[in-house]
Amino acid sequence: MLSFLIALAICCLVFYVYHNLWLQPEKIRKRLLMQGINGPKPSFFYGNLLEMKRIDSSKKVKNEDKCISHEFKLHPSLNFWKNEYGPTFMFLKGNRITVYVSAPEILKEITLCTSLAFGRSTAWIKQRTCLLGDSVATLNGQAWAHHRKIIAPEFFMEKVKGMMDLMVDSTLSLLRSWEVRVETAGGFADIKVDEDLRNLTADVISRACFGSSYLKGKDLFSKIKALQTALVMQATWINLPGYRYIPNKKNREVWRMDREIQQSIMKVINERKVAGNIENDLLSTLIDANDLNGSKASEKFVAESCKTTYFAGHESSSITLKWVLLLLALNPEWQARVRAEITAVCRQHIPEANALRQMKLLTMVIQETMRLYSITPLILRETLQEDIKFGDIWFPGGVELMIPVAALHHDPDIWGPDAGEFNPERFANGASKACKFPYLYMPFGFGPRVCLGLNFAIAELKVILSLMLGKFSFTLSPNYRHSVVYGIVSEPEFGVDLIVRKV
Ligand code: HEM
Repeated sequence: MLSFLIALAICCLVFYVYHNLWLQPEKIRKRLLMQGINGPKPSFFYGNLLEMKRIDSSKKVKNEDKCISHEFKLHPSLNFWKNEYGPTFMFLKGNRITVYVSAPEILKEITLCTSLAFGRSTAWIKQRTCLLGDSVATLNGQAWAHHRKIIAPEFFMEKVKGMMDLMVDSTLSLLRSWEVRVETAGGFADIKVDEDLRNLTADVISRACFGSSYLKGKDLFSKIKALQTALVMQATWINLPGYRYIPNKKNREVWRMDREIQQSIMKVINERKVAGNIENDLLSTLIDANDLNGSKASEKFVAESCKTTYFAGHESSSITLKWVLLLLALNPEWQARVRAEITAVCRQHIPEANALRQMKLLTMVIQETMRLYSITPLILRETLQEDIKFGDIWFPGGVELMIPVAALHHDPDIWGPDAGEFNPERFANGASKACKFPYLYMPFGFGPRVCLGLNFAIAELKVILSLMLGKFSFTLSPNYRHSVVYGIVSEPEFGVDLIVRKV
């Protein structure tokens, strides 16, 4: 009897694994095939991952360039399959079906979709939950809509205008330290700007989120950064169920760091509660918020929302700043034009909201930078519970859609033959006139999930850059090595080294 039960259990397990890893994805694959979506033939367990690895290594992707090109190099396999199977094709990461979508007519509908049944990819969420918790960035459905409704008003333009002073204060303190370095070094300094810019944007978002508690918020920054690094190491493309719960060395390290971050945030929340929670910042809003059922939001909700805003709110901005400074160092004529504009608009004054609006050339440079170097080169979405139709295709529930943002931003059919070059002039008449299909320019994402900190980020970039360019000039240091690394976000692999002089 016992051996029969064991045999039965083994049979059930084998069938369960076979069903999940093969039968179910095969059923969905056939439905897509019947609608004309092709793709490489998958193998059991790995799907197309081995082939992907083989193609990527056969194309010998070298990230580092001797001469600087702005070419986009993530996964040449995707480009290879696109040439083979057309702009919309499917492939399997393990048992997960992913449809790569670059056909403009389908993308148009995707960017307009507001259904709660269309959300973030569940595989993406699994990888980020440890970093961001259950938060606006990682939830789907009603829970996401609720979180977004609470946090979004904190980053509306009117509120952001009130945060410009804190952006200025943080920037001036960095500029003073650069001034000392330049003077001590005898007129110019060779500075790796990465750490300084990361500290600067962490300082800004700390003040915006935590108000007077910002020094404690800052302490969290180094911990979150360490967790992010550990998560990149832990990331795997294979969709192995339960992998992140296995108590191996890497996972244990990630759990320990997460606990520490959680405890630090709880400490700040508790201190704020004891003091009466009377400040006008994100932390106060979160502490006073209700959950979906109308009762008081949990401390976990407050902690995870702070963590998300803190992470999302400094990393992308600091990396974008690095790329802007690098591109201006490589293009001195644009640097001079932008500086002249800043001088004319600000007239020796600290920039305020109205002045920022008048900085057209600076806006064009920022837009062109975010086109060439998108923070998120791929955006993943999923048809969550039900089938959804985009263009002529019904995408079955549970299918991941890959939107190749960086490839779209580099496509000569969309941007013209100079798509690979730095030419901010293309944005002279705004983003809507810069290319053939304006909705394919998506540095802040798209649809209802578009970056929640968009207004904040643009104001922050402009304040920081206008103050920096008003005081210093930047040229490329001989120490700079051009290479882009694609992790949770894409960034310069070896940092950005610049020669900084006072103007
Ligand atoms: C230059 C700076 C920034 C860039 C390039 C950027 C880019 C992005 C992108 C591409 C997404 C994904 C959108 C999508 O899936 O469609 C995103 C989401 C998000 N960003 Fe930003 N971001 C920046 C700055 C910020 C700042 C300063 C904050 C906070 C103050 C912020 C908060 C968020 C949040 C909370 C989400 C998730 C929104 C949701 O899922 O509903 N970001 N951002």
